[in-house]
Amino acid sequence: MAYILGIESSCDDTSAAVLKNTQVLSNIIASQEVHKKYGGVVPELASRAHQQHIVPVVSQALHIAGVEVKDLSAIAFTRGPGLLGSLLVGTSFAKGLSLSARIPLIEVNHLTGHVLSHFIDDPKSAKPQFPFLCLLVSGGHTQIIKVKAPLVFEMLGQTIDDAVGEAFDKGAKLLGLEYPGGPHIDALSREGNPRLFSFARPRVKDLNFSFSGVKTSFLYFLQDRQAKDSEFIVKNKTHLAAGLQQTLIEILLEKVILAVKKTGLRRVALAGGVSANSGLRNRMIMEAEKRNWQVFIPPLRFTTDNAAMIAITGYYKWLEGDFTGLEVTPVTRMYL
Ligand code: KG4
Ligand code: ZN
Repeated sequence: MAYILGIESSCDDTSAAVLKNTQVLSNIIASQEVHKKYGGVVPELASRAHQQHIVPVVSQALHIAGVEVKDLSAIAFTRGPGLLGSLLVGTSFAKGLSLSARIPLIEVNHLTGHVLSHFIDDPKSAKPQFPFLCLLVSGGHTQIIKVKAPLVFEMLGQTIDDAVGEAFDKGAKLLGLEYPGGPHIDALSREGNPRLFSFARPRVKDLNFSFSGVKTSFLYFLQDRQAKDSEFIVKNKTHLAAGLQQTLIEILLEKVILAVKKTGLRRVALAGGVSANSGLRNRMIMEAEKRNWQVFIPPLRFTTDNAAMIAITGYYKWLEGDFTGLEVTPVTRMYL
């Protein structure tokens, strides 16, 4: 039996969670409102906010779980990828706690955390059998991965420029929506017609993705229409959001279909912040029915950044005795 404390601070959410093996006892997330008005995450403000949040968030996670520091089997923290100043807060805190309480430390790759969120106990979600395909879609990453075992991955393809979450966020910004724009595009899309406007889809080889062209095509389209009618965006916001979302989903699905064809694997999982998107979730379920795939959609609370996914990864590493020395430093880039 293991009690694992997870700490996540890679971007703009400070989170701490306690797991009893694969069961979540607590999962506290303090989101940073400060970035909204800047249209994106401001690194200096993010690290400062993590400093403010980290102590109360970890205390609350332990308190709600009813677990004391001395009872922990390990402290798992996000080592990367992410913003250096943000990662430093979680890493330093985890190291200090590990040293003072003599609890083993475990470094976690944030991307592994997103994938392994499927293995957190949830009454409504089945856990995928190995091997399976995972479409990992977030604000910083867009990848198709073959997951062979809890900690064994093969990257089959990734974006050559922007991540799909960035495309959602930058598109949203052009429509005058607050950061992060993904959830706003999702909400507006439900009221709009996705077939009224569509945007350039890239031609990228194999299982790789590209999203920078969609953003440019969206920008030029808006500039062109606004020049003729200055109210164009205001009048068409829902249809523009729906068209953008539809285009992004099409790009993702085309590659998932190709990945299934290439690998012969019919178990397909979604992970990462963009997997909260209702259009993407519905489309995956539809395709799965049509194509006879088994699809795994994570519970909403484990899609965007959270420490439960860091703790579950910590649990699998704990099972393997894969601990980390106190000399560890965070890294902004990390691969699966
Ligand atoms: O995984 P995540 O929380 O952080 C990173 O690791 O990047 O993902 C954040 C991304 C943002 O780009 C955000 O706009 C997007 O996930 N996102 C969504 C939705 N909810 C979050 N995108 C589309 N629809 C959503 N409902
Ligand atoms: Zn993430």
